[in-house]
Amino acid sequence: MTKKPAHKSPCLSVCYYPEQWDESLWARDAARMAEIGIAKVRIGEFAWSVIEPEDGVLHWDWLDQAIETLGAAGLEVILGTPTATPPKWLIDKRPEILAWDAEGRPRRFGSRRHYCFSSLSYREETARIVTAMAARYGDDTRVTAWQTDNEYGCHNTTRSYSPAAADAFRYWLKERYGDADALNAAWGTVFWSQRYRSFAEVELPNLTVTEPNPAHILDFYRFSSDQVVSYNRQQTDILRKYAPGRDIIHNFMGFYTEFDHFNLCTDIDIASWDSYPLGFTDQEDLFTAEEKMRYMRTGHPDFAAFHHDLYRGCGAGRWAVMEQQPGPVNWAPNNPAPSSGMARLWAHEAIAHGAEFVSYFRWRQAPFAQEQMHAGLLRPDDEPAPAYEEAAQTAGEIKRRARAHAPVALIYSYDAQWMFEAQPQGAAWDYSRLCFEWYSVLRELGLSIDILPPGCSLDGYSLIMAPSLPYIDDKAMAAFKQADAPILFGPRTGAKTREMQIPPNLAPGPLQKFLPLKVTRSESLRADHREEILFNNETFDSGVWLDHVETALRPRAVTRDGAGALYAENGYWLLTTWPSRALLAAVIRSMRSETNVGLHALPRDLRLRQYGAETFAFNYGPDAATLPSEIAVGQTFRLGDATLPPAGVAAFSAIKGR
Ligand code: GAL
Repeated sequence: MTKKPAHKSPCLSVCYYPEQWDESLWARDAARMAEIGIAKVRIGEFAWSVIEPEDGVLHWDWLDQAIETLGAAGLEVILGTPTATPPKWLIDKRPEILAWDAEGRPRRFGSRRHYCFSSLSYREETARIVTAMAARYGDDTRVTAWQTDNEYGCHNTTRSYSPAAADAFRYWLKERYGDADALNAAWGTVFWSQRYRSFAEVELPNLTVTEPNPAHILDFYRFSSDQVVSYNRQQTDILRKYAPGRDIIHNFMGFYTEFDHFNLCTDIDIASWDSYPLGFTDQEDLFTAEEKMRYMRTGHPDFAAFHHDLYRGCGAGRWAVMEQQPGPVNWAPNNPAPSSGMARLWAHEAIAHGAEFVSYFRWRQAPFAQEQMHAGLLRPDDEPAPAYEEAAQTAGEIKRRARAHAPVALIYSYDAQWMFEAQPQGAAWDYSRLCFEWYSVLRELGLSIDILPPGCSLDGYSLIMAPSLPYIDDKAMAAFKQADAPILFGPRTGAKTREMQIPPNLAPGPLQKFLPLKVTRSESLRADHREEILFNNETFDSGVWLDHVETALRPRAVTRDGAGALYAENGYWLLTTWPSRALLAAVIRSMRSETNVGLHALPRDLRLRQYGAETFAFNYGPDAATLPSEIAVGQTFRLGDATLPPAGVAAFSAIKGR
């Protein structure tokens, strides 16, 4: 995929809803945005019922005026297509637009994202409103970028079980398999007498008595992902026609895996995401109670960074934060305020990962409706909230962008996530958790990371990590073969075919050619069971999963019972079990003889990020923390110094021999 390079310096932006405020406030709002150094403003993404209050009655005057006012203050406008919120009159006119839940019930009007990606009626209405908007503002010089829709999939809306989805799924299956016998073979429908005579007989995999066939589930997940991609493509085709040369962006979410973001991004210019570190830290099971407490006001140190690196990979280098938490949100179980300084730290962390812009959500807190308790840069009474000054300070500190290849690549696959969801085989197994944990251990060692899809070129990396990859296709295998860095694979790698069957030569499938071993039995383990692992004369532990292998290779680590836990041959390393963080760090350290990555022992809450010729350090902890002397001594600091206060940011020249 060829992307336009981004030349400009990174900047700050803000999300603004002119339709929610009296017009008399707009000019002052725009002037204040410009005054504190904000350069862009995103508007419009939920405004359909204001643009078109009645079927076919289009009101552009207010939007013309809003763009005029913002543009006159020197702000660039990112204009959102309003398709995340089809208005009531439209749902009443065409109720088949609604998505259905897995219990077979249509979802109701009254919040947002109530449409089904497969509804042909909605595709028509989408084309109509997006064309009208793009025709009006496509060549407007103040509108420099477009956002398609808003947060595809939010509120579990990727997978719809509507009649429209069932029809589209059958069509998708026919395209994929050609005839029903091919589908029967791929799914193994001879099992439990599930043979289909035609595609017309296939239903959606919901409401079955017990588990549906895993290949059926997996194909439904793949289909649902493709529907999001094709829905988005319908919008980008229109925007490319009417708004040539403008960047097209979508705003993704955190820990969201129901569609393949790498695929969708082939149709857009900038991958952006909505970063709410406190909401996610409080909400996600991924974090322990101790971590939730420790990072209650800062967010987990690796949560935002993981997504920055993921979406930079999705956008092939071009990415941004479209919504940045500025204060308490309204939607997590608990909604504390960020520590003083975090609205600044989060923006710097994003920019240190190469973000083109960071856009605070939102300008002013709304005193009404669902999000009235969600903070903005301004309070509802128009006075500055704490993040206002922090945004102003950050705007003055941002330097020109510089892009640098990270030394470590971590392979992440949406398809892998769906395979494990379709057949988990162990309650404690969680692919995304595994990837996040590996990422987090790399960050604790002071490393900068690129997150890439399988099959992406691995040239130039010093270390490659594939936490698990159940199906290794030819493209992924070719990229592994070409890599000149050691690769560490995790458990369940190469354990399936594309159709979700056990490979004829057993796991790890195509890796066996280079790593001569065969998985003959696999166990999933209780979440509270720990397996003792002996490695380099030290005792560690692992859990969740254990693959037993047959091989002539000598294991590098073993369980207490002598089962092999780690093997290495030809630069291919394989863990047969889910390592504890300490074991994984020890394995990475032991790979140093094969790689030149520089590893550091950082204080618990400190993180580093290399950014071109600069290194950034961030303190997510409750206490001051000091950089190790091998990093700090002799450095000239542009921001901060070697000891970082809570929420502190430091920037200094790049560490040699990263
Ligand atoms: C995002 C969404 C915004 C707003 C925000 C609140 O998920 O895109 O519209 O709802 O969350 O935190």
